[in-house]
Amino acid sequence: MQEPVYILAIESSCDDTSAAVSRNQKILSNVVATQDIHQKYGGVVPELASRDHQKNIVPVVDAALKQANISLTQINAIAFTRGPGLMGSLLVGASFAKSLSLARHIPLVEVNHMQAHILAHFIENEKGFPIFPFLCLTVSGGHTQIVKVTDYLNFELLGETQDDAVGEAFDKAAKILGLPYPGGPLIDKYAQQGDPKKFKFPVSNMSEFNYSFSGIKTAFLYFIQNQTKTNANFIEENLADICASYQASLADMLFKKLLGAANQHQIKTLAIAGGVSANSLLRKRLAELQEQKKYNVFIPPVAYCTDNAAMIAVTAYFKYLRKDFCGLQITPQPRYAL
Ligand code: KG4
Ligand code: ZN
Repeated sequence: MQEPVYILAIESSCDDTSAAVSRNQKILSNVVATQDIHQKYGGVVPELASRDHQKNIVPVVDAALKQANISLTQINAIAFTRGPGLMGSLLVGASFAKSLSLARHIPLVEVNHMQAHILAHFIENEKGFPIFPFLCLTVSGGHTQIVKVTDYLNFELLGETQDDAVGEAFDKAAKILGLPYPGGPLIDKYAQQGDPKKFKFPVSNMSEFNYSFSGIKTAFLYFIQNQTKTNANFIEENLADICASYQASLADMLFKKLLGAANQHQIKTLAIAGGVSANSLLRKRLAELQEQKKYNVFIPPVAYCTDNAAMIAVTAYFKYLRKDFCGLQITPQPRYAL
């Protein structure tokens, strides 16, 4: 029997410092330190993010090893997020991983954050793993992509946003409503009490399987400005309906293209990944597709949707099996393509 592979993974691409320890595809620990400092600025401030990563990284890695009850001598590889992400934030994780690799003579594996969001589906779980080929809708604060996955490390980008990411469309609308950052989860929360048909927002239709979210965001801004001109309490009086209607429009746009791509590529297995896949309406609509037996659907637990190092660990495991290691000269790639 093959020896188990233990990986220590580090994720620091945006505003969450995370470390995880895995044994093959099983996650032994996954520690996330979320940075609250950005809330008062209404968005991530890159310089503050990298400073916070520096503060958090040692205690987070230490906690991950302790929770897993694994010592550094047992670790077979150290993995880190190479990109995409904020340069300053990526540098903290990459430098830490490289130093530890050098000091302890442990092989290093670099990981693409967007691939990792998708491969979170291969973390050991009760439902099992998607069968190749499948389509993954990756939706986060920085990306909106439809990806055809034909093998663990084989990805074909079928479509993506041409401007804002859907997470930004959630967060910017939340900001217009006066909600704190990140507003996506709050729009989701208020939407649950609202009427999704109360207000109409113009949905864009891009070519092929691409998206655009800048139009709906601007339409949302004008809508709120106009309504509050005649009724200063408009937001307060209609918050749930505004959130429900806006969220439903974003979900309609996402599903139209995803199902279009599934149809054209004749793929019956669908998955969702990234921070926005924590959204309850997206999860509900996907679950309905499963219930209707139209598709086999994979929805990760919320902890593996938002940024986390567990997904970095499982991606590194597949790269480790291929002996896909990197040297100490490796540098972060803020615009790392899928
Ligand atoms: O993947 P992620 O944690 O970080 C990036 O790599 O961007 O995604 C963060 C994004 C934010 O825009 C946040 O508002 C959004 O995910 N998000 C949600 C929900 N939970 C997180 N958006 C809508 N509904 C949610 N429940
Ligand atoms: Zn992410």
